Amino acid sequence: MCGIFGCILKNGDASPIIHAALKRLEYRGYDSVGEATIHENKLFIKKDQGKIDDVHIQHDLDDLPGRVGVGHTRWATHGAPSQTNAHPHVDCAGQIAVVHNGIIENFGELRRELEELGHVFRSKTDSEVIPHLIEEKLKDGLTMLEAVREAVSRLEGSYAIAVISVKEPDKVFCARRDSPLVVGVAENATYCASDIPAFLPLTNRAVIIENGELVVLNDNGYEIRKVTDSTPVSRKPEIISWAPNMAEKQGYPHFMLKEIHEQPLCLRNTLRLQDPYLELMTTFLDRAGEVFLVACGTSYHACLAASYMFSKLAFLATHPIIASEFIEQHGRAVNIDSTILVVSQSGETADTLAAIEHARLRAATIMGLTNVIGSTLTRIARVYVCQQSGPEIGVAATKTFTSQLCVLAQLALRLAKKRGKVSHVEIEHLEEKLEQIPEVAEKIIQSQEEKIKQLAKKYKDAQCFFFLGRGVSSATAFEGRLKLLEIAYVPSLAYPAGESKHGPISLVEKGLPVIFICPKDDTHKTVIGNIMEMKARGASIIVITEEGDEEIKSLADDYIEIVKGVPEVLSPILYAIPLQLFAYYMAIERGLDPDMPRNLAKSVTVM
Ligand code: F6R
Repeated sequence: MCGIFGCILKNGDASPIIHAALKRLEYRGYDSVGEATIHENKLFIKKDQGKIDDVHIQHDLDDLPGRVGVGHTRWATHGAPSQTNAHPHVDCAGQIAVVHNGIIENFGELRRELEELGHVFRSKTDSEVIPHLIEEKLKDGLTMLEAVREAVSRLEGSYAIAVISVKEPDKVFCARRDSPLVVGVAENATYCASDIPAFLPLTNRAVIIENGELVVLNDNGYEIRKVTDSTPVSRKPEIISWAPNMAEKQGYPHFMLKEIHEQPLCLRNTLRLQDPYLELMTTFLDRAGEVFLVACGTSYHACLAASYMFSKLAFLATHPIIASEFIEQHGRAVNIDSTILVVSQSGETADTLAAIEHARLRAATIMGLTNVIGSTLTRIARVYVCQQSGPEIGVAATKTFTSQLCVLAQLALRLAKKRGKVSHVEIEHLEEKLEQIPEVAEKIIQSQEEKIKQLAKKYKDAQCFFFLGRGVSSATAFEGRLKLLEIAYVPSLAYPAGESKHGPISLVEKGLPVIFICPKDDTHKTVIGNIMEMKARGASIIVITEEGDEEIKSLADDYIEIVKGVPEVLSPILYAIPLQLFAYYMAIERGLDPDMPRNLAKSVTVM
């Protein structure tokens, strides 16, 4: 996730406006920043790696001439954070500057094609293909509008772009597909941005740009057209009534809720991972003597779920290990034949880094899954995949958890394919279901949120919760419990449901809320037995179950429903979402701030 901004002012310099807007977009990315403006038919660019304030101290981001410009704040996905990889990117002649948020899936192919035509690339980003494509189209004598339209028609993947060019210096050209883009309309200026907060102090009149649309900002305002055939679209601005503190959260009261709601979009991005890295990881996993899945907290729960995915799909046994225990538990067993798949959102967790340092010294193969390119994990790992969730500001991991699961499921599926362990028909079915995950996640949030809010009202004073599930759902249970206890401070237990009768059941008394995670999978029958055990002792049963599962629903005091037909191995991605919402609303009911749970930090850099 990155932030883009563009503006055309009637008077004055654009650069201080761009700089201030980028500050307001900083939560979308903060590893690099850049601006480009046009003045007297020349392009002026300043960009560098680092946080906006640091880059400003070095380069003075308010000091570029011209009333038309674009800016970018970056969260690296392709190419490490560096000055060269920072946006804006330009064409060979240095006449077109582009800022981009999204992922261009076919950039490799486009880059090869453009290089054959003589274009010289400077960065390692996917985004740089865009100015070169536009430059190529302009050679055919097209207008900027047509050249941008034709260029974006060649792009596969997601994008929101803003483009300026000395060819038509009084315009900003924008387009979007699957990445957000809004236009802000003021008396003396028109803006475009990834999010409304970027221009909210300047205007509250916003036009939401839809997928497949192109916009030109000019001195008279804006013009929207369809990318497919350039037909004009008429859309009036709407008035935004957000208070400034709500703006950075896009109208949500907390980052945690915003990030829960962002999951469909994040999952879509995660499904666009770069093939070669996934393929390389699959090869390492296939060859490995033994595989350890090492992580802390929520990332560990993703590993736990992944161990079921690898085993069920690819017949690969893996050891999910809490990073702080890794050296004690397996330190001496690790050797050149060991493969360590390390999962860390931040890539900086001290316990995790200590574990991999140990494994590295023992010549193990280290592979990483992280959300932060340039983090220590990406520097140590032999190969890594970036989950592409964008920055997560809420302390509790939500969108990054479901994205991690989505990457791990993709890896397990690839390995299954490679090993020929699962039938072709099943693989295709799972691939299709994986593609539908973002849409299903959206449906779950839309249909269940209000019900979950009511559930939190009902159970807000409970002193303790049990979370139970069998099979892969035991990982979901662990994660649901962690969310509730860290955000709403409710002491809770989570167990694989079968294990609950080996001790924890002694705590059960009348009214104890027990949350069962019960997708309709092979464990269904046995879970019913476990529900009966808890019911018989007076527990209040809350189930997260599949739509239409009347048998389970009839046993429950309360239920949350998940769309039918979610395959077992993918179920944690979707069944975790109601648990995140439940923890959030429990915190609200108990008068707590879910974004700032006591004693916790987003990145735990001490051991
Ligand atoms: C819980 C949470 C933590 C992190 C853990 C690992 O909501 O956020 O448990 O999951 O500190 O962090 P990373 O994934 O950055 O290594």
